[in-house]
Amino acid sequence: MSKLHLHDLLRLHLILSEFWVDIAKEFFWKTKHTGQFLDYNFDVTKGEIFVKCMEGATTNICYNVLDRNVHEKKLGDKVAFYWEGNEPGDEKTVTYRELLQEVCKFANVLKLQGVKKGDRVSIYMPMVVELVVAMLACARIGAVHSIVFAGFSAESLCERIIDSQCSLLVTADGFYRGDKLINLKVIADEALEKCRDKSFPVERCIMLKHLSKEEQEASSPGSLSPPAKRSCPDLQSGPRQVDVCWHSLMEGASDECEPVWCESEDPLFILYTSGSTGKPKGVLHTVSGYMLYTATTFKLVFDYHPDDVYWCTADIGWITGHSYITYGPLANGATSVLFEGLPTYPDVSRMWEIVDKYHVSKFYTAPTAIRLLMKYGSEPVHKYKRSSLKILGTVGEPINPEAWQWYYNVVGDGRCPVVDTFWQTETGGHVLTPLPAATPLKPGSATFPFFGVVPAILNESGEELEGPNEGYLVFKQPWPGVMRTVFGNHQRFETTYFKKFPGFYVTGDGCRRDKDGYYWITGRIDDMLNVSGHLLSTAEVESALVEHEAVAEAAVVGTPHPVKGESLYCFVTLTDGIDYTTTLEAELRKQVREKIGAIATPDYIQNAPGLPKTRSGKIMRRLLRKIASNQQDLGDVSTLADSTVIEQLFENRCCTAL
Ligand code: PRX
Repeated sequence: MSKLHLHDLLRLHLILSEFWVDIAKEFFWKTKHTGQFLDYNFDVTKGEIFVKCMEGATTNICYNVLDRNVHEKKLGDKVAFYWEGNEPGDEKTVTYRELLQEVCKFANVLKLQGVKKGDRVSIYMPMVVELVVAMLACARIGAVHSIVFAGFSAESLCERIIDSQCSLLVTADGFYRGDKLINLKVIADEALEKCRDKSFPVERCIMLKHLSKEEQEASSPGSLSPPAKRSCPDLQSGPRQVDVCWHSLMEGASDECEPVWCESEDPLFILYTSGSTGKPKGVLHTVSGYMLYTATTFKLVFDYHPDDVYWCTADIGWITGHSYITYGPLANGATSVLFEGLPTYPDVSRMWEIVDKYHVSKFYTAPTAIRLLMKYGSEPVHKYKRSSLKILGTVGEPINPEAWQWYYNVVGDGRCPVVDTFWQTETGGHVLTPLPAATPLKPGSATFPFFGVVPAILNESGEELEGPNEGYLVFKQPWPGVMRTVFGNHQRFETTYFKKFPGFYVTGDGCRRDKDGYYWITGRIDDMLNVSGHLLSTAEVESALVEHEAVAEAAVVGTPHPVKGESLYCFVTLTDGIDYTTTLEAELRKQVREKIGAIATPDYIQNAPGLPKTRSGKIMRRLLRKIASNQQDLGDVSTLADSTVIEQLFENRCCTAL
């Protein structure tokens, strides 16, 4: 592949502007854009980094994904979501008209609670239709949603509420994940308490009652904490003035709500992603570019047809759910499945049962789910026909060829293209991806860039490598859906993504390009881990561990895991005089879970009286990774200050995970 020169880039820029301007014509604009379609600076040496798309235009994304479908496209009676609850048989269907009505009602509720354009609203909810209602209601009135995945801890929720300065929290009483009850409101209350302690009192908390009375009262063996004895009306008479009940508020609300017309570059949402310093970054996306990008990638990458039933198994708490459960599919008037439960509950055929039940034609999941189900063999898959399936998608981490083949041959019966979509919270939508039937596939490769995306591979000194090569994956120019800033910290945005190689957006991923020009993601090349498709920073887990009084120092690395991709291996050096016991180990696991959430629970914790360090005191993680995966060949150890620690670390290796 040859290097793109300035005039090529300019020509490409013009062609792409036309491409996007044509697409923009299909959407509703209150006022048209003035000036160029995309304006940007990607070079820190030339001034502040910025990306602006369709400046001068005003629109409303909620209007585009709902009103336009109901009124202009006459899709009011079309199903927007088949909601499938955790428990088989617990289900409901929501049409576009019904969704619009609910969204308008909740938008009015938010307004009555004092939420205005530009205000931030935190949403901490399970996978229920009301989560989509809450996010679109924010978008309708120009408020900025900040959704926090319902698996995060009280501490994580509080940190995100404060960072985004949210005035209101929307949550639910609780939900079941498989047979485990999660008392969400108890965690939310704890988070609000912590916010108050940190002098950030949240003014309002709207609670949806999701659990039935029986569910609330049932005692479940795997519960995190005792089931809550709470019902929504009780909130009103309770002592906590911040609590209000979703249902009571909705009862009196009007189902008409004029959308607030937003500028193209007004913020749409903040979504936190792990940062290598340990503090999560509030990735900010704006209205118009994100709308066009998610709508178009959804349409082309899943080869969307109006009679499709699409199912993305991600949680809306992550970017995949934002872009490819809510905004992208709804912008196209698609019918989707919204699933609350787990792939293994009540049994390992659940996914395929759902595929047959709703005649799912486009299916999008993560390699970790594929590897998990692969363990049970093909029999649970073959119990169901799956004849409706046409396209299979994957996202979140590199997919190993074995899992790819199983997905293609067993799930798709060898007749459905697999679209391996590479992207990030920051990119807003797919950036490297095959287009089904058009791109010859290679198992494990995300193939080629999407329209308008210009990748490059750089070496350590920032030189662009041509042809088959391996190095840092970067992008040379923006596309409409790329993030605009880190909320409240534009400097961090520039430092994280643009300082290392001026002129390029740095993904943080390693990448190989083969002789045919295919891109192969090789994994993170910063201090990030990818556990079950979720990014975690080593610093984040380390700081949770050292907050325990028994821990003097901690170093966390990733080690290969057959299902999760990577697992967390933690080395801890204890404070003098403290003994390493199984009780302490359990406490440390609990500590990380409570600080971050269950996704960060360490798989291995090893007592490390000494850590391998350079003479200047830097921990040599490269060696720790080798020790964690029991690779004796350590390579160059000449910079190691004290080589005796290595032997001891190998001796103390943990052999079994949790
Ligand atoms: O390392 C890449 C990996 O996931 C990271 C982005 O994580 P997050 O922002 O949480 O978003 C995940 C869902 C879009 C990337 O930097 N990743 C994502 N998709 C792929 C992937 N690695 C390889 N192949 C993919 N298809």
